[in-house]
Amino acid sequence: MTSSSSFRLIVVIFCCSSLTSGRVDRHPKIIPSDNPLILHKENSLSLFCRGQGILQWILANRLIPSEGVKVEKCDSSHNSHCSKLTVTDLRASDTGTYSCNSSEAGSHNVTSVYIYVKDPEQLFVEPHPSNPQVLSIYRDETSLVVPCRTTSPDAVVKLEGIPVLSKNIAEEKVWDPKVGFKIPYGPYTTYSWLTCSTEVNGHQFLSRYFPKRHTKLLQNIKITPDHVKVLVGDTLILNCSGETGPNGRINFTWEFPKQKENRHQTSRSDMIPANPITMSQVLVLPNITMEDKGKYVCHAFLERSIHKNASTKVKVYEHPFLNISYKQNHRGVIVVSEGTKKLVLEPRVNAMPLPDVIGWYKDGVAILKNSTCYRMSGYSLSILDLKHGHTGIFTISLGNQLKGLYRNLSYSLTVEVKPTISEAELSNQDVQPYMSGKQHQLTCTAFGVPLPQITWLWQPCNTNLMIEHCIYKDEIVVKPDAQGNNYHNWIKNINVKTELVQGKNKVCTLKDHSRGRPSMGPALQWKGSPSSQSEGKRWPGGGQHGPMGHSASGQVTPSGV
Ligand SMILES: *[C@@H]1O[C@H](CO)[C@@H](O)[C@H](O)[C@H]1NC(C)=O
Ligand SMILES: *[C@@H]1O[C@H](CO)[C@@H](O)[C@H](O)[C@H]1NC(C)=O
Ligand SMILES: *[C@@H]1O[C@H](CO)[C@@H](O)[C@H](O)[C@H]1NC(C)=O
Ligand SMILES: *[C@@H]1O[C@H](CO)[C@@H](O)[C@H](O)[C@H]1NC(C)=O
Ligand SMILES: *[C@@H]1O[C@H](CO)[C@@H](O)[C@H](O)[C@H]1NC(C)=O
Ligand SMILES: *[C@@H]1O[C@H](CO)[C@@H](O)[C@H](O)[C@H]1NC(C)=O
Ligand SMILES: *[C@@H]1O[C@H](CO)[C@@H](O)[C@H](O)[C@H]1NC(C)=O
Ligand SMILES: *[C@@H]1O[C@H](CO)[C@@H](O)[C@H](O)[C@H]1NC(C)=O
Ligand SMILES: *[C@@H]1O[C@H](CO)[C@@H](O)[C@H](O)[C@H]1NC(C)=O
Repeated sequence: MTSSSSFRLIVVIFCCSSLTSGRVDRHPKIIPSDNPLILHKENSLSLFCRGQGILQWILANRLIPSEGVKVEKCDSSHNSHCSKLTVTDLRASDTGTYSCNSSEAGSHNVTSVYIYVKDPEQLFVEPHPSNPQVLSIYRDETSLVVPCRTTSPDAVVKLEGIPVLSKNIAEEKVWDPKVGFKIPYGPYTTYSWLTCSTEVNGHQFLSRYFPKRHTKLLQNIKITPDHVKVLVGDTLILNCSGETGPNGRINFTWEFPKQKENRHQTSRSDMIPANPITMSQVLVLPNITMEDKGKYVCHAFLERSIHKNASTKVKVYEHPFLNISYKQNHRGVIVVSEGTKKLVLEPRVNAMPLPDVIGWYKDGVAILKNSTCYRMSGYSLSILDLKHGHTGIFTISLGNQLKGLYRNLSYSLTVEVKPTISEAELSNQDVQPYMSGKQHQLTCTAFGVPLPQITWLWQPCNTNLMIEHCIYKDEIVVKPDAQGNNYHNWIKNINVKTELVQGKNKVCTLKDHSRGRPSMGPALQWKGSPSSQSEGKRWPGGGQHGPMGHSASGQVTPSGV
């Protein structure tokens, strides 16, 4: 039996004179020249190499020098060198390519021999009987090598897969005992396992593999935060992230002004499994100085030298600051009408470091975070469902406690309210008869912001209530008259008054334009009772036209006598 441990084959070939003859072969020669060379477990290997310049051995699975490996000079002739390699106690894993490299004046040549080290207990050179070996394959590759090369050139190896191998693979697979199987592998071929198996003397040997797609996808490389501002002495923290496909692994490197000082640290790459996968790495640079300002570049590498980069500018400030200003052009004066669904007060904040105290106030009273009609977000305040009661001064107060910086910015808000008339007596349904010649007073009370103007109008109508039509289609603007005429009631005067009732602002007027806007106090809501009156005197004899039409805000109210 060749496997018997007592059998040792020593290959020793002495250089014969023919090798050193004048013939110049530029490639080194390996002796013996059998290729492949078949040996057995526990044999010793002896190879000679003869060639130009410096000779160097490259072994399948061992280092030079290491235990059992010896390289020595051998009989050199005048124009060639000789090197002898000895490897004792061969193992199955020594199966592979052995090369001799001759180099001289920058050029080199290599000669190789393939050696099998047969071992009846190990059929696969690198067996993976339980944990599969990962086989990387890129999407654009069309074939895959299953590296189940064998320790014997004549082993009969089967390839199986989960799921079962396609017909295409079964037919086109190529076996090479020095390599394994080479199989066609399309862009969407997927196997969760590939298994090489062989049987010797009723003993089965297995080696398992796990094909894994690698990706070329590398996108959305970005650094957050963008446009970084830091203070001298602070720690700069930048996060570089990118997206890749399944099995992609992004390698991040950084490039920045004071990189050579090596003050920085980077975290291990973080991964968020999703599709695409997001990977990120954080750069931490402590004790910032003015010299650290500038461009920070993050390079993202994917296997196979796929590369993308992202950059950001870092500004370094020597002193802290807190600036706040109006974003829009209104310079803080805002007028909206009641019923507006939403108003956002949003100042522009420029600060270093960022404020840690943010508060909004209305007329000096803090607005609570849980308030139902206000929403706070960042530096902005949203006022929802605007009412007159929102009128007032809104102040944002920002501060940075550590740096002792505080700033306020105020907005003056006015919520306008549409005018409304409160008198029921001016309605069509409630017509009162009045005595001709007597004096009567009509009152119109109107509310609104800004203070409304009130105009009285008259539309003469038939006294007979059964007849619905009025004499004049158009209303006549009522004015105080020194004297009457035939058909017009005499208007003695029209008064307009503005009043604050129950702590609320009220306008009241009678007649014709109430001019001038009385100053407004702190207004919360328009409510209240009529407060101004006008007196109207009827024209004597105006009886047959009896109806006095009074209207406020353009409404006509005919009344009959
Ligand atoms: C052979 O040697 C040269 C010079 O030392 C080296 O550049 C080359 O990589 C070697 N070849 C192999 C296959 O190792
Ligand atoms: C390698 O081979 C080439 C061509 O055969 C030859 O020109 C060169 O000198 C050789 N170099 C060495 C170091 O053997
Ligand atoms: C960096 O950014 C990525 C992508 O936005 C994010 O998933 C990750 O949590 C960030 N890492 C740190 C430490 O903030
Ligand atoms: C990432 O790149 C650096 C520098 O090029 C390299 O030293 C390192 O081995 C790479 N890491 C991976 C996992 O590719
Ligand atoms: C940063 O500054 C602090 C205080 O000056 C010092 O203790 C620390 O060692 C510095 N760190 C680095 C990385 O230079
Ligand atoms: C970043 O990438 C762009 C294009 O991908 C390239 O032109 C540029 O030179 C790269 N910058 C650095 C600093 O590598
Ligand atoms: C902040 O405001 C101050 C004074 O108003 C001004 O001098 C400074 O330039 C501003 N800083 C920034 C960054 O806007
Ligand atoms: C900012 O406004 C708040 C609330 O009105 C007030 O308490 C504080 O004193 C003001 N701060 C400054 C710096 O004006
Ligand atoms: C709002 O928050 C304050 C304290 O921040 C609390 O006293 C009050 O009860 C809260 N109101 C509501 C309606 O949750």
